[in-house]
Amino acid sequence: MKYNNEINRRKTFAIISHPDAGKTTLTEKFLLFGGAIQTAGAVKSNKIKKHATSDFMEIERQRGISVATSVMTFEYKDHLINLLDTPGHKDFAEDTFRTLTAVDSVVLVVDSVNGVEEQTRRLMEVIAMRKTPVMVFINKMDRDGKNRFDLLEEIEKELKIQLHPTTFPINSGKDFKGVYNLAEKNLVLFTAGTKATEDDQLRISDLSDPVLDAKIGKKDADVLREDVELIDGVYGDLNVDEYLAGNIAPVFFGSAVNNFGVKELLDRFIEIAPTPRSRETTQRQVDPTEDKFSGFIFKIHANLDPKHRDRIAFLRVCSGKFVRNTYYHHVRLDKDVRFSNPYSFLARQKDVIEEAYSGDVVGLFDTGNFKIGDTLTEGENFYYTGIPSFSPEIFKEVVNKDPMKTKQLEKGLLQLTDEGVAQMFTQFGGNKKIIGCVGELQFEVIQYRLLQEYGASVQMNSLPFYKACWITSKDPKKLEDFIKYKQANIAEDKDGHLVYLAQSEWFLNTERTNNPDIEFHFTSEIHK
Ligand code: G4P
Repeated sequence: MKYNNEINRRKTFAIISHPDAGKTTLTEKFLLFGGAIQTAGAVKSNKIKKHATSDFMEIERQRGISVATSVMTFEYKDHLINLLDTPGHKDFAEDTFRTLTAVDSVVLVVDSVNGVEEQTRRLMEVIAMRKTPVMVFINKMDRDGKNRFDLLEEIEKELKIQLHPTTFPINSGKDFKGVYNLAEKNLVLFTAGTKATEDDQLRISDLSDPVLDAKIGKKDADVLREDVELIDGVYGDLNVDEYLAGNIAPVFFGSAVNNFGVKELLDRFIEIAPTPRSRETTQRQVDPTEDKFSGFIFKIHANLDPKHRDRIAFLRVCSGKFVRNTYYHHVRLDKDVRFSNPYSFLARQKDVIEEAYSGDVVGLFDTGNFKIGDTLTEGENFYYTGIPSFSPEIFKEVVNKDPMKTKQLEKGLLQLTDEGVAQMFTQFGGNKKIIGCVGELQFEVIQYRLLQEYGASVQMNSLPFYKACWITSKDPKKLEDFIKYKQANIAEDKDGHLVYLAQSEWFLNTERTNNPDIEFHFTSEIHK
């Protein structure tokens, strides 16, 4: 419990959204509030282009820059906030899923015009699985969006989470006049094109106060009164425990680009968002305030320079204090390792750090010792759990074009899949190597990097599969039979777990119906 003060002032979270909803803009406003950047546009320039479909060189270049912005640490009102970046491009969705294992809460940005979009749905599935506390920011209220009550209903239904409005808007688009803070009982008025200041705040303890009519006009004042009465009646006060349990999501309305409604979100965030939480391991639950250090690797980033094969492994500290140049136990390799140049991420520059606490993310130089899910401790043998691999959606067979480079190819494939760029499967009973990814772009990245970094030239042949499901059964005989009959569709993942490669949803459903004793899993826990 030596480090309670440090740990209790930390909040580690991620902002997630469908591309274009405003994640980058909101991130930037948070950093401006935290004083971590001085000018707007600083984060923007680092953004991976969302619409590039084949420009992987550009993506690679951006990946290099994005190491620095992968974690943004800033202070706000005595709190230390670690904001973990998630890639915008859908082909890197798996990277985003993994990042979600390293945070204690998330802020979800929804575009008020487009509502809930595909990528948001998938991210929310992961969040729901982990019971991660969520706050929702409904952005772009300065545009003519959907009706606000309809939006709330849509989000609740689509994301299967109960919402709790914390701020509520007065109109939208050109009639957008501001947001009323239901918790603080004050009104913040919006003037297009200007930044909200403290002066724009109108404290109204009683909504029947005629000053409201004078400020926003009788019609809008009456609508607001009705809205607030309705919301108070339906939602009541926020139950913070339910938020922390991942059952209720506080909602805020605003306009990130105008820096409007953002402060309300940030202020409430530091007030109620969770500090580092206890986490499950294969042995026991580990409390963040324990004295002894432990943490896990959730992301690995390759060095762009092909002359240097080293990588940066991202360590989430889960308990105790991490200290530079100290030996820690690498559980999987059963060896002690130490780090002379661990990095912290203060906004855009990387700094060597001496120590880090629960909730922090540290960048470790790695020469190939780490893979995702690895755990470091002060000696104890356990792994952090809940770091799954998700089923890929596109599959290709890797064909070696240069038999002289077979060894290099094997090494390259192993290392790239350790990084989590893709998943590798080996055809059951054969030797065919199958790569599974979430997006086409990853195949291009793999092909390019195999050649550049390992000198291995490959061809990728598309395979007609649509999903990989990990299969298990309580009845070994049934599993054995299934494998025998479905051999062409069976493969092993890198850890030797069996997967069934389904050609289509129809095939998958048919097999599930015909084989009730076989369990089909859409994620594979790295450590159980
Ligand atoms: P993302 O990271 O989620 O992909 O979204 P990003 O912040 O890049 O925002 C996407 C676009 O939406 C940007 O416009 C941004 O300026 C705009 N935007 C963000 N917040 C608001 C808002 O509150 N209201 C309105 N009207 N627009 C907003 P862009 O044209 O793609 O880029 P830029 O040229 O403005 O930089």
